[in-house]
Amino acid sequence: METTLVLLKPDAVRRGLIAEILGRFERRGLSFRGLRLLVLDRATAERHYAEHAARPFFGELVDFITSGPIVAIALEGESAISLVRDMMGATDPKKSALGTIRGDLAIALAENVIHGSDSPASAERELALFFGDGLIG
Ligand code: RTP
Ligand code: MG
Repeated sequence: METTLVLLKPDAVRRGLIAEILGRFERRGLSFRGLRLLVLDRATAERHYAEHAARPFFGELVDFITSGPIVAIALEGESAISLVRDMMGATDPKKSALGTIRGDLAIALAENVIHGSDSPASAERELALFFGDGLIG
């Protein structure tokens, strides 16, 4: 069993896509072990995206992820980390396969609806950032 950290980004919440995306995870058979609506402060957003700190788009990335409420989710299941990445689709929605969350719901690279941990080490770090006070079950 693995647990991964998913964020529904501000565009997903603004567009009313929470139920659509959570439903996909439920139907796939993943379990919710944490679920939280929050607005990220800049310091936490910069920590979350620290690997991109030197990239030219870092400022815009932090502006966007702090621009409104997000949903943070701890999702558990067999191979949950890679499974959720596969369900998300490619980073650039124009290249995401149909049937994936980004391929079905997004067009723009910056506003690509969802984040998912990309490795066990990232999942551990990100779960501590968003659910440091513990998971359910
Ligand atoms: P995420 O971290 O949000 O789950 O997305 P990801 O792993 O698929 O992609 P990553 O490489 O970690 O990039 C993080 C986010 O930065 C934006 N991005 N902009 N302007 C650009 O060239 C560029 N490249 C990436 C995307 O919104 C991506 O989700
Ligand atoms: Mg990433």
